[in-house]
Amino acid sequence: MLKTPITPELIAYCESLGTRESDILASLRNETLKLSNSQMLITPIQGAFLKLLAQITNASKILEIGMFTGYSALWLASGLNEFGSLITLDISDKHLELANKHWVAANLQDKIKPIIAPAEETLKAFIDDNFKFDIIFIDANKSQYIEYYESSLKILNDGGIIILDNVLMYGQVLAESPQKNFVKTLKQLNELIKNDNRVDMVMLPIGDGLTIARKRDTQ
Ligand SMILES: C[S@@+](CC[C@H](N)C(=O)[O-])C[C@H]1O[C@@H](n2cnc3c(N)ncnc32)[C@H](O)[C@@H]1O
Repeated sequence: MLKTPITPELIAYCESLGTRESDILASLRNETLKLSNSQMLITPIQGAFLKLLAQITNASKILEIGMFTGYSALWLASGLNEFGSLITLDISDKHLELANKHWVAANLQDKIKPIIAPAEETLKAFIDDNFKFDIIFIDANKSQYIEYYESSLKILNDGGIIILDNVLMYGQVLAESPQKNFVKTLKQLNELIKNDNRVDMVMLPIGDGLTIARKRDTQ
């Protein structure tokens, strides 16, 4: 059922009236847009949505898998409660300076802790050390999304939420037999989450597709 076809003009309308991107966030996004791989960035609508989710759930512990230039981390951190903190993981520190400059400008640098290492290693350490989070945002290596999802469920509080970006992979998930292995992985994960009775879920067609999965209470 198609209600309103979402044209680029309507997206621009939503971005202009439906988000409150601060000057600092806009500056970080504009700096990031100068990079060749800037398409990795979430959109302002997704960012505003992430912040609201953090606020609605009164999140105090957030984990992000995939920091890049720290734009989504800044949106999420701005929704943390008074005592909250966010850990963001990336395999590379290439953009850490740019990220940190904007976290400092927003006075959120003390709430954001980057860990530069392969996410799979850090997640294993968190599982071993029994870390727990209220929100986990997954936005790193698409080939590893199933592992990230399964690891995240182990370190998520009951009632906590996992948010996954790029679940539509620019429309490539519609292919019956995709050539690229990471698209196959995403299709497999989308099916897995739909049928996963450990969570309640919704897949939203905003940005490149966001799935929200809320962990049910463990019995
Ligand atoms: C899509 S970008 C993240 C964008 C960011 N969430 C935002 O919107 O502001 C993905 C990031 O994941 C990182 N990454 C890729 N493989 C990784 C791995 N195995 N462990 C940790 N980070 C990884 C990349 O270096 C890249 O910066």
